[in-house]
Amino acid sequence: MLMITIFMDDSFLNGLHRTLGRERFAHSCGVATIARDLAPAWGVAHDKAHYAGWLHDYARNLPESELLALAGKFAYPVDLLEQRYPILLHGAVGAFLVQESGLSNDREILTAIRRHVTGECGMTSLDQLIFVADMIEPGRCYEGVDRLRDLAATDPKQALINALQMKIAYLEQSGASVHPRTTAALRDKLLPDSRKVAPSGES
Ligand SMILES: [Fe+2]
Ligand SMILES: [Fe+2]
Repeated sequence: MLMITIFMDDSFLNGLHRTLGRERFAHSCGVATIARDLAPAWGVAHDKAHYAGWLHDYARNLPESELLALAGKFAYPVDLLEQRYPILLHGAVGAFLVQESGLSNDREILTAIRRHVTGECGMTSLDQLIFVADMIEPGRCYEGVDRLRDLAATDPKQALINALQMKIAYLEQSGASVHPRTTAALRDKLLPDSRKVAPSGES
């Protein structure tokens, strides 16, 4: 495991506030707090969950043109859906930027940042926790969020299944495309454990 190189001091938080702006800083604070609080029940180190929560939306405020340009700079293989909806790139680009800026070089944290947007087959416990925490932080308000909060505290596997199903249903109802990584993540989670893709912190 690589060393965590970020620290929760004033300069880290002030820098993040400048990068994210007030609203997204508050959202990230909520994700970090929920992820840290749920970490023991999800079998995740609470400091990793906390850092990943703070950083998961690091690139979320970048314009689409910049997300595409940065994906090119980092040689990330942009797929057709990401080309059409560049906002999908904010996880992958955010992970590259977090690493480049020296905020963290922890592979598990970087992977959780990258995977939080769509989910992915073979998600680690940290990936799963950040994906769900992003959907249930205190600022979230939509039908079914309280049920998802209850599940996240009691049944992590079912919480992730419900979170993926809700994301897919929301996208379909909005007429948006569902990324194949999201349906693959759900399929993987519904498989019996013996047939699952082994969790991987890198891909
Ligand atoms: Fe995000
Ligand atoms: Fe988020």
